Amino acid sequence: MRQKRTENDSMWEKWTDDWLSHRVSYGHVRREALTTKASTRGSEKRAGETESLHVLVLNPNPSRSFPSLSFSLFPSHCRSISPLLLETKQESKNKSEKRSIDRGKMCGIFAYLNYNVTRERRYILEVLFKGLRRLEYRGYDSAGIAIDSDRGWPPAPVAGGENGGKETGRPAYDSPFPLIFRQEGKIESLVGSVFSEVDAMDLNLEKPFSVHAGIAHTRWATHGVPSPRNSHPQSSGPWNEFVVVHNGIITNYEVLKETLIRHGFTFESETDTEVIPKFAKFVFDKAHDEEGEQTVTFAQVVTEVMRQLEGAYSLIFKSPRYPNELIACKRGSTLILGVKELTDANSGTFSHDDKTFTTIGKPKEFFFSSDLCAIVEHTKNYLAIEDDEVVHIKDGCVSILKFDYGKEKPASVQRALSVLEMEVEQIKKGNYDHFMQKEIHEQPHSLTTTMRGRLRANDVVLGGLKDHLKTIRHSRRIIFIGCGTSYNAALAARPFMEELSGIPVTLELASDLLDRQGVMYREDTAVFVSQSGETADTLLALEYALEHGALCVGITNTVGSTLARKTHCGVHINAGCEIGVASTKAYTSQIVVMVMMALAIGADKISTQSKREAIINSLPDLPNKVSEVLKLDNEMKDLAESLIEVQSLLVFGRGYNYATALEGALKVKEVALTHSEGMLAGEMKHGPLALVDETLPIIVIATRDACFSKQQSVIQQLHARKGRLIVMCSNGDASSVCPSESCRVIEVPQVADCLQPVINIVPLQLLAYHLTVLRGYDVDQPRNLAKSVTTQ
Ligand code: AGP
Repeated sequence: MRQKRTENDSMWEKWTDDWLSHRVSYGHVRREALTTKASTRGSEKRAGETESLHVLVLNPNPSRSFPSLSFSLFPSHCRSISPLLLETKQESKNKSEKRSIDRGKMCGIFAYLNYNVTRERRYILEVLFKGLRRLEYRGYDSAGIAIDSDRGWPPAPVAGGENGGKETGRPAYDSPFPLIFRQEGKIESLVGSVFSEVDAMDLNLEKPFSVHAGIAHTRWATHGVPSPRNSHPQSSGPWNEFVVVHNGIITNYEVLKETLIRHGFTFESETDTEVIPKFAKFVFDKAHDEEGEQTVTFAQVVTEVMRQLEGAYSLIFKSPRYPNELIACKRGSTLILGVKELTDANSGTFSHDDKTFTTIGKPKEFFFSSDLCAIVEHTKNYLAIEDDEVVHIKDGCVSILKFDYGKEKPASVQRALSVLEMEVEQIKKGNYDHFMQKEIHEQPHSLTTTMRGRLRANDVVLGGLKDHLKTIRHSRRIIFIGCGTSYNAALAARPFMEELSGIPVTLELASDLLDRQGVMYREDTAVFVSQSGETADTLLALEYALEHGALCVGITNTVGSTLARKTHCGVHINAGCEIGVASTKAYTSQIVVMVMMALAIGADKISTQSKREAIINSLPDLPNKVSEVLKLDNEMKDLAESLIEVQSLLVFGRGYNYATALEGALKVKEVALTHSEGMLAGEMKHGPLALVDETLPIIVIATRDACFSKQQSVIQQLHARKGRLIVMCSNGDASSVCPSESCRVIEVPQVADCLQPVINIVPLQLLAYHLTVLRGYDVDQPRNLAKSVTTQ
């Protein structure tokens, strides 16, 4: 049976001590924990408990009157053609929840609002462009922005033209109408087109704004080809009365579109998003028609729109009807608010971190982003917006409302700001040519931060897991679930987890688990591994495991990610922002976290105590060993030069290093665009041996562990068939693995067997990197790939 969780269940409650310590603290709020209705196992661990959390009231007057809109959005003639809209709110909500991670798209959202601090238009544009450049690594095919014009309204459109006559007259607003710029292709082509369009319309780039709200977007096409017309911001119509940027997918957009068309709206794009601004305008117009002069608030408009949307989304709304305000809301897709308070209205320097958002008039800058990477260079004070929250920025204040389908009025919410641990350097290449290169070389540091504060004398403390260890120890099975590199990391950790826990450990590729609807019990512990915490397959598998009542543990690099929010408990790998599409430092940190998890689970087992303590004591030296293996950089470049023409590459590993073979091959495949296969060496004679000849390069991993002699035998068999061998061995073992000097040897430092995959992958990461550069391919954004795969 599914374990029920409360609405307020959030990462703060689950990803405990090690993350909680980073929060900023003011006031108190009661925490509600999980209820384990219908689940007998583990209830003692997940029962409700109360803990003091500190929160900050973001708005002095959050309880502004918020009446539900009283008009009928869909008169009876509409309902007859929109059966989905006849669903009850709860049914609609359930469906939406079900689908919320069904599909999504890898778009990026960024917004910038300066309040009581003068910024020229040029500066505002640069902030928006910079935000987009920070989101670039996620993958995109077009981009766009919206900023204010100088005029109260654009030239009148032709009467009877677009939008069924709804827009034939000028709307009655005096505030500057939003200018939308959209372009297909790279951010730089958007930048170029914005400046030439601005020039053509004689827009003053030096015009100062003491308050201004700008929004920006990178799009990964799903509905409609990449084109300016399908890019975001999407608009309500010719007057741009509501403009919206969207990350996610609206699953019921066709029904909404049909309804809006019947109400006279004309659609210009093929996107699902366009229904959102048009629907906002529909709501606004309706409210005005029915309520006369009584104004409907921006938040009321947005919540009424949310009431009708199904799917996954994070959205930002901008409107000249509500000048200098922004509203963001989300359901499923990550959205972050960054807040920067300034001392001097013109200097742009930081004040002390008192975060008195309630001081009306104090100069501030607000940022919304799909990703912390686009916020860190502006401020470290952030809020991970939760599902169904509506964040409204107006007059320098932030108010947060919690939308609930079952309730007419959203409740106001108090949330804490967090302090970002990330450094600005993490999002910059520094002295490196590429992010992948930087991230490979960063591993001694990222591993140090992964372990920081978690190692004690003969013990490991994982704050996010400690209350759940007893439940995990009583599990029938531990199931690791992930995709790609994250799956490989779990594969590397499996032998040690099995050894230390004494529990059967199985592995699932998330998509395969879903395809065959694999067996899962409520007595299982399902461990979800994901760098991004947003991979659609992994999140769907999580949904599946939650439905089956398993204890769900998350291992992720991304604070505030869907994985972090939806699992019962978990561990952040703290590897720092990983920008290269090819996962490198996250892989090694994931392995170390899973090794630490095994050490924590195995703390009560006598038979493995000495091994456990030996590993704990060796962990602090692991970053030094990684520094040592990084010295092979030139050697790997040299090896890459010798492989530049090869069509195919095999990597053989076994035991702990079967994962190294898979991961090494994946790296070569995804960035160097060279066919490569990782194989279990034990399977060699069952088929792959037929491929062996003098031309096919084969990397054999034969570092010292229990499988060493078997790997020696594999090398001999390959050698006998004149295989083109590259052998990875422990320092000093060259002659043992390659007596006749007929093969190329990569010697690496030896560490404990369960940590050896962390060392062994590094030369293969370097090889993949150099091969890619030599072949002239895009290292950080390989073709067809996105950093997180939010589509199935
Ligand atoms: C890694 O180099 C790949 N880009 C890819 O396999 C990735 O690991 C996979 O898509 C899973 O991503 P996640 O860890 O963010 O869930």
